[in-house]
Amino acid sequence: MSTRIAVPLPKAYLLLNHGPTVLVSSAHGGRQNVMAAAWNMALDFDPPKVAVVIDKATLTRELVEASGEFVLSVPSRQQAALTLAVGTQSGREGDKLQKLGAGGTAASIVGAPLIEGCLAWLECRVIPEPHIEQAYDLFLAEVVAAWAEPEVFSGGRWHFPDEQRRSIHYQAGGNFFATGEAFEV
Ligand SMILES: Cc1cc2nc3c(=O)[nH]c(=O)nc-3n(C[C@H](O)[C@H](O)[C@H](O)COP(=O)(O)O)c2cc1C
Repeated sequence: MSTRIAVPLPKAYLLLNHGPTVLVSSAHGGRQNVMAAAWNMALDFDPPKVAVVIDKATLTRELVEASGEFVLSVPSRQQAALTLAVGTQSGREGDKLQKLGAGGTAASIVGAPLIEGCLAWLECRVIPEPHIEQAYDLFLAEVVAAWAEPEVFSGGRWHFPDEQRRSIHYQAGGNFFATGEAFEV
């Protein structure tokens, strides 16, 4: 895996502030998995928190409920096909990381893997909120470690050095947008 820089925790929200689709990875009892999640958001600065919808039918839900942890990885445009694949197949049908050749690297604090080739990673510990988990499939979590690919994110800003290394946003039916140009107001 390429070099990562640690992102100061109160700045971790910047990794999600522009609304990218993410990969949610999880692990428990010798099993690991990854799925796509467009319904995610940053929730707080310090301690940093995130929110993500994890449907009851997913294997991810089972592993996140069992472990109390997950990782959000921010995929690049180059990984759009992988993102669609992990979002349309279930890990119940076999290890998607292996099947799709998605590399996983050990995280620093949680048991779920960081997905290789992504632009940024947030290691998360679930904040138990049984009512909203059951009623809305919504999980809140504290970000306990955050990392970024330094050519793409540094000094508290995304840079997107080329077309392939942009984050992506999901529409539907295999249709994505790539993050556009930054501008200052
Ligand atoms: C681009 C994309 C975004 C998705 N966003 C979400 C989401 O926010 N929440 C969710 O529960 N499922 C979402 N899905 C569906 C899951 O990724 C899908 O159900 C996946 O197959 C679950 O995998 P698993 O059973 O291995 O956990 C999305 C799918 C795609 C393709």
